Amino acid sequence: MNFAVLASGHGGNLQAIIDAVKAGKIKAQLKAVISDKKDAYALKRAQQAGIAALHINPKDFPDRESFDRCVVERLQGFGVDFVVLAGYMRLVSIYFIQQYPHRILNIHPSLLPAFKGMHAIRDAFEHGVKVTGPTVHFVVEAADDGPIILQEAVAIAPEDSLESLEEKVHQAEHRIFPQAIDLFVRGKLKIEGRRVIITG
Ligand code: GAR
Repeated sequence: MNFAVLASGHGGNLQAIIDAVKAGKIKAQLKAVISDKKDAYALKRAQQAGIAALHINPKDFPDRESFDRCVVERLQGFGVDFVVLAGYMRLVSIYFIQQYPHRILNIHPSLLPAFKGMHAIRDAFEHGVKVTGPTVHFVVEAADDGPIILQEAVAIAPEDSLESLEEKVHQAEHRIFPQAIDLFVRGKLKIEGRRVIITG
């Protein structure tokens, strides 16, 4: 199977995925990394790993769907079977989702359905919850929704700062995201309504 990663920022998750592919823990080819941000460090990480790295500027398109049509065209050019959103800070259009039904995986830094949105770690910290952690899920039309593949609980200790919590959540992300992608690639995920059954 071939896949691509869409990322907007630092690319910590991308790096964990690149490392897992290299180590043979994900048996699929990472064909391309696409970013909506020209300066995304994720693009540098891709280049350093010898993976095609593309910036597509949303400002060059009149609306979300025409941007997504361009992204999909490029993905098709790379012969991509599925797509991974790793810190991709744009909502994807229905058009995009329809091209890859149940073949788009996203990571979100909270235990969904709690703390949807752009600042999930901070929101959880400020809310005073005792446990948070990342979620990997299939992408559906509604944002931060869709059948949940894996979650990892991260305890918030009294001495945690927002920064130390961010670090813990990111480390958990880097564990479960490659694991979820591997399960998907090996055909171990069966979707039943909202549930994802992990088969032996
Ligand atoms: C990650 O924490 C990811 O869960 C989050 O952005 C960060 C990207 O970090 N995504 C969202 O909040 C999506 N709603 P990275 O660029 O180092 O992988």
